[in-house]
Amino acid sequence: MQEVEQHEIQNLVNAVHARYLEDHSGEVATYIPELGKADPRHFGICLATVDGQVFDAGDTSQLFTIQSISKAFVFAMAIEEHGLEEVLRHVGVEPSGDAFNSIMLDEVTMRPFNPMVNAGAIATTALIGGATPEARFENLRRTFSRAAGRELERDDAVFESERLTGHRNRAIAHLMLNFGMIPDRVDEILDLYFSQCSLLVNAHDLALMGATLANLGINPVTGEHVFDVASVKYVLAVMLTCGMYDFSGEWAFRVGVPAKSGVAGGVLAVVNRQLGLGLYSPRLDSRGNSVRGFKACIEIADDLGLHAFDFLNVGSAFLQGMIKPD
Ligand code: DON
Repeated sequence: MQEVEQHEIQNLVNAVHARYLEDHSGEVATYIPELGKADPRHFGICLATVDGQVFDAGDTSQLFTIQSISKAFVFAMAIEEHGLEEVLRHVGVEPSGDAFNSIMLDEVTMRPFNPMVNAGAIATTALIGGATPEARFENLRRTFSRAAGRELERDDAVFESERLTGHRNRAIAHLMLNFGMIPDRVDEILDLYFSQCSLLVNAHDLALMGATLANLGINPVTGEHVFDVASVKYVLAVMLTCGMYDFSGEWAFRVGVPAKSGVAGGVLAVVNRQLGLGLYSPRLDSRGNSVRGFKACIEIADDLGLHAFDFLNVGSAFLQGMIKPD
């Protein structure tokens, strides 16, 4: 990130928010009926730095379900619980080029392609530790809460809605059971998967969860050590290559930072050692990514020189004291 002063970041976040506020393109997801109730006007952008500064614009306290953004954090938890090699027996790290709900497995290994598509996420969810279903959910909920810096709760209506309509996810899970990729407790694994997707967050939470990844696994506001630096490296790599589904290549090309989207309209982006971005705008494009979330990310990345290969990206700028307080 190039040298910028505090008020310039706030001005930029405000300006990008204002620029896209009246952009009404895209559609709110309705395939999970409860998601269709979202107010499409909501739009929030939050940027949190690894030294704990937070810049908000718009509806950053509006709650929505985290959905697929949970997949990045569950991958980290699975690695920390079982070690990378064991996790890689159950899921690959190859972009599928397919939609998030693709029912395809790798024809040779029978693993799902990566932990960011539904199949891979169901496989990593099956690896969450805990003695009982309740303990596994509590383990997950607590870890996410520590990353966000506040207690997160499940939206039970969305959970029930996913559970009632998630036939495709059930099919994927049974296919993986058939190939020994998940253990024989399909309903319970799916309940945990639907629960993780139904955790309520806001754009502010997402920015802090992103900043926790950017900050080597330590929440920059609470100082809590949430993830190991070793697993963070793998999570960010897979977010960069697979985080935006069949749009991942274009995203890496244009925005150039690891990111993950969810069908409720959330986007989380991470600039390693520098910052986390959390965005919320429920209207989605045809691949299930937030329209205004994408546009706002491109603009912020361009303006601050965040793209991994941007010549303005000097890396670790905050740690080197290049961001001067007002
Ligand atoms: O599996 C599902 O259908 C959802 N609960 C999660 C999907 C999701 O967020 C995909 N993302 N864009």
